Amino acid sequence: MANDQSKKMKARERVFSGAQPTGNMHLGNYLGAFRNWARMQADYDCIYCVVDLHAITTFQDPETLRDNVRDAAAAYIASGIDPEASILFSQSQVPAHAELAWIFNCVARLGWLNRMTQFKDKAGKHKERASVGLYIYPTLMAADILLYKATRVPVGQDQKQHLELTRDIAQKFNNDFGVDFFPIVEPAILEEGARIMSLRDGRQKMSKSDPSDYSRINLTDDAGAIAKKIRKARTDADPIPDNLEALKDRPEALNLVTIYSALADLPLKRVCQEFSGKGFAEFKAALSELAVEKLAPITAEMSRLKGDPAYIDGILAAGAERANDLAAPILKEVHRIIGLTS
Ligand code: AMP
Ligand code: TRP
Repeated sequence: MANDQSKKMKARERVFSGAQPTGNMHLGNYLGAFRNWARMQADYDCIYCVVDLHAITTFQDPETLRDNVRDAAAAYIASGIDPEASILFSQSQVPAHAELAWIFNCVARLGWLNRMTQFKDKAGKHKERASVGLYIYPTLMAADILLYKATRVPVGQDQKQHLELTRDIAQKFNNDFGVDFFPIVEPAILEEGARIMSLRDGRQKMSKSDPSDYSRINLTDDAGAIAKKIRKARTDADPIPDNLEALKDRPEALNLVTIYSALADLPLKRVCQEFSGKGFAEFKAALSELAVEKLAPITAEMSRLKGDPAYIDGILAAGAERANDLAAPILKEVHRIIGLTS
């Protein structure tokens, strides 16, 4: 019996995911990422990384970066990631990430990277002035995943192209060296409902970098701020319809109903039925109450954790050690396969 149990544990697939420590963790990060990561702990061996090396592809103030790494770790833990059950660490503390990324820079083709839409979006009009790191961001992401031979990667839709590149890199590596070494990653892209939009504009994603703080609910907002932001959220004049179809061309209304449905863990259809015919004043009041109820414990836990940086640093150090232990034999084998060692 105990033996069976341990076999089951060993057979569990490995999950890897990460978010950049760039401040302002928000409701979109929670519903679209962290909450889902926490839920995956029941079925998978999970590795959750604060990707600080990815963050520095655009300039970060050193003092702020230090705080943001701890804040990101606090957000993971407060969202339900258990640092004992899962491995929680920051990317820069496991040097094998950068090393494998270099090797992948020699596997990936320029043409592949030229197609990456996130680089085009982030570099904007002045791509000559973007850092080289921003350009090769996706090879580092492939290294993050393949360094642990992770096969499940929960990310938002916007990361799909990077996962396809990760598959291409794994395949080319295996082909070039005639091995069956790196697995082919299964994207665990969340369904449409998990894309949370700005409270000011239902066609824009809720984002850390939106200049308007009213566009997002931060995981650090208190009950008053949450209620105020929901009250001021953009809507239209019509009441909530009894079916989803009727929300199709009402992005702001759809977004608020989506947030309600995600927080209440109810299908969108059910939420429409429950509030059918009600105006937004009433719906927003219910949404505020629900949001405060669900987010208050997370906010409280984050602020408690922020008051104890030594605890967070300890978690990250222990996580880095465990991650190093998993990564070292894989990187060693890569060295052997490509002829750096015998
Ligand atoms: P980022 O904030 O872009 O570093 O993303 C960190 C994680 O949160 C990724 O897995 C994203 O897909 C997810 N995420 C970010 N913004 C949203 C959003 N507005 N709705 C749903 N998921 C999001
Ligand atoms: N690029 C991801 C994002 O912006 C973050 C990330 C870096 C990541 N490395 C990863 C996500 C590996 C999943 C797996 O959201």
